[in-house]
Amino acid sequence: MMANEALVTHTYRSGTAGTLVLLHGFPVDSRMWDAVVPHLPQQWGVMAVDLPGLGHSRGVLPQPPSLASSAQLIVPLIDALPGRVVVAGLSMGGYVTMELLRRAGDRLAGVVFLDTKAEADTPAAAAKRLEVADQVEREASVSAVLGMAAATVAQPLRADRDREVALLAQWISEQDPAGVAWSQRAMASRDDSFDVVRGWDRPALVLRGEHDAQSDDQVMRALAQALPNARFVEIPAAGHMTAVEQPGAVAREVTRFLVGL
Ligand code: MLT
Repeated sequence: MMANEALVTHTYRSGTAGTLVLLHGFPVDSRMWDAVVPHLPQQWGVMAVDLPGLGHSRGVLPQPPSLASSAQLIVPLIDALPGRVVVAGLSMGGYVTMELLRRAGDRLAGVVFLDTKAEADTPAAAAKRLEVADQVEREASVSAVLGMAAATVAQPLRADRDREVALLAQWISEQDPAGVAWSQRAMASRDDSFDVVRGWDRPALVLRGEHDAQSDDQVMRALAQALPNARFVEIPAAGHMTAVEQPGAVAREVTRFLVGL
């Protein structure tokens, strides 16, 4: 594990082909990639980031909540990596990946977007996030977001997902309420990113869980269509947290992508 004050990274391994940098979703941390990594190609190094305020990246950034601030912390990390760098981001991690394209797009050989979207929040969705952030802060507890564990898995397969829901609930319960509130406010303030994805013509892979209720088929296909050089793949029998529900299938698609670069 490596840390500066606000950003902790976990290096699973180094590799000769380049480095895959993994950015997790909300409100969990880099552990959500643990089951994917063993199935990725050995020649690729793999590093996962705990995004600001979550996982081991404790301590809320002094900057006003913004995913641009999160991306700014990641740029030097990417610049310090030798060789090719590919970033894969799930949901909130995907939003941060879009901010990285704005700042360090030239440095990336490819990107993988999982269960995410390029649209900004609607005013109603942003207001709801701010309410939740206030509640989490007021209660000094993550109780208000614990329900996401059960809500994010594939609902038609909920009866088979007790293990995944328990794992997600465990990770959520271990988050710092202040970091959860900061992340919600940062997501609420994010911009629409269609301008940046339309302008990024290197290879991209867009993965969506078949039953993802947060990033629906329409928004994910819109993202894939906006990217000039993207492939869209649906992961069967998965909801929003594809990397947790179907780690083998996610790794297979990411491997195909990396090997094809
Ligand atoms: C996530 O998984 O990161 C969240 O669903 C992102 C969001 O709330 O938009």
